Amino acid sequence: MRRFQALIAMVLLSSLALIFFYSTLNLQTTYSRRALPEDIPKHTTLPARDSDVTPQGPPLDSEQDSTATPHRDVYNVSVSAGFRQAVPQNGAYWNRLLHSILRRLDKGDYTFRRGASWSQCMETNQELLQTNVHDFTSYPMLHQDFLRAMNCRFPPTLIDQPNKCTSSEGEADNQTFLLFAIKSNPRNFVRRQAVRETWAREGVHQSGLRVRTVFLLGSLTLDDPDLGPLLSFEAKQFGDLLQWDFHESLWNLTLKLNVFLGWSLRNCPHASFVFSGDDDVFVNTPVILSYLQSLEPSKASQSYVGHVISTASPVRDPKSKYYVPMSFYDGPYPAYAGGGGLLISGALLQPLYHITYVIPFFPIDDVYTGMCFKALGISPVAHKGFQTFDVPEQDRENMCVHKDLMLIHQRTPEQIKRLWKGIHSPLLTC
Ligand SMILES: *[C@@H]1O[C@H](CO)[C@@H](O)[C@H](O)[C@H]1NC(C)=O
Ligand SMILES: *[C@@H]1O[C@H](CO)[C@@H](O)[C@H](O)[C@H]1NC(C)=O
Repeated sequence: MRRFQALIAMVLLSSLALIFFYSTLNLQTTYSRRALPEDIPKHTTLPARDSDVTPQGPPLDSEQDSTATPHRDVYNVSVSAGFRQAVPQNGAYWNRLLHSILRRLDKGDYTFRRGASWSQCMETNQELLQTNVHDFTSYPMLHQDFLRAMNCRFPPTLIDQPNKCTSSEGEADNQTFLLFAIKSNPRNFVRRQAVRETWAREGVHQSGLRVRTVFLLGSLTLDDPDLGPLLSFEAKQFGDLLQWDFHESLWNLTLKLNVFLGWSLRNCPHASFVFSGDDDVFVNTPVILSYLQSLEPSKASQSYVGHVISTASPVRDPKSKYYVPMSFYDGPYPAYAGGGGLLISGALLQPLYHITYVIPFFPIDDVYTGMCFKALGISPVAHKGFQTFDVPEQDRENMCVHKDLMLIHQRTPEQIKRLWKGIHSPLLTC
């Protein structure tokens, strides 16, 4: 009898030991799975578990404003099959990063949404970038800078306009039909002045449509003269500057777009439409307003309109402004609306912002916007009124040509003022 009891005890003990052994094995496989090379980007882009002190859930806001509650939708974003297929799975860094995030998204693992705080986001150590991007050190400085700061999303605000879209004058004034969000370099005082006196003039336009304007600025490096006092004066005078403390640079335009999206959802959530564009374009605001007003409700809430570039691929010439190394991104670009000027329905701002947590930053802002929309399953709508590559030479002074256009790329402040006056001239007969 004793023996029998001892035998049972032994069987029990050994099965316990076996169970324990298997469970550790299981842990080990999960653990070593995490360290597979394909998952490496995770470590380079996200703060390590231990140091990750951000509370569960995505920060929808800058660290300064912790009062905003995350919207439930952020856990419900799905990425279209079309976009998943359009980005080839290959060895390029961005491609690997995206697909590793998609795998986590599909497993219900949302930890990738935790943004690193501004002070920590650059800690992405260079060694890891170098092991993941074999020719990292041969990248141009701009590209290296972009990669190092690729996870930085919440720069401190230097100049804000929290009351931009509210008004004490009457309920109707709280509505914004069109919000101009104009990318500008802090130095471009003259351009901003020309733009705010002409096409982006704030106020109530035709049929009582309320137009509001913000200029989006990064900050200059220490070598530049200190423009701070001038900018604060300008901001006080016109109430239309937004400035964040990140380096103003072509390859930080995606970050600029992203911080603007966050700002608009907080401060101008009811805008019907947003125009995103440059400060050196000419915009025919009356034509744009009529067009937007003419949209059927179903289209009005789903619009992504502009000059559509539908079959572009990365430029591989290292001397080009838009050079993208093969080891960074390898694949075609989605159809996208040229960043000189495009229109987005206000209703799409929130889904767009949410999807930016899934799609890693891409250095070229208009391509990035196209990627995000493709991930949302929305295609850009081409409108021939958008001429981001300019009109034929012989038409450049022709007011009648301009009268019907919506946007023309690259005009000087003087040209902008002349064109604005010209298209409004009562003497104009076309
Ligand atoms: C406009 O919005 C602000 C802020 O939400 C509010 O305080 C104000 O009363 C609103 N104005 C009107 C007339 O509804
Ligand atoms: C973007 O801004 C960050 C923060 O100022 C900076 O560290 C980074 O170098 C900038 N990126 C580029 C490409 O200039």
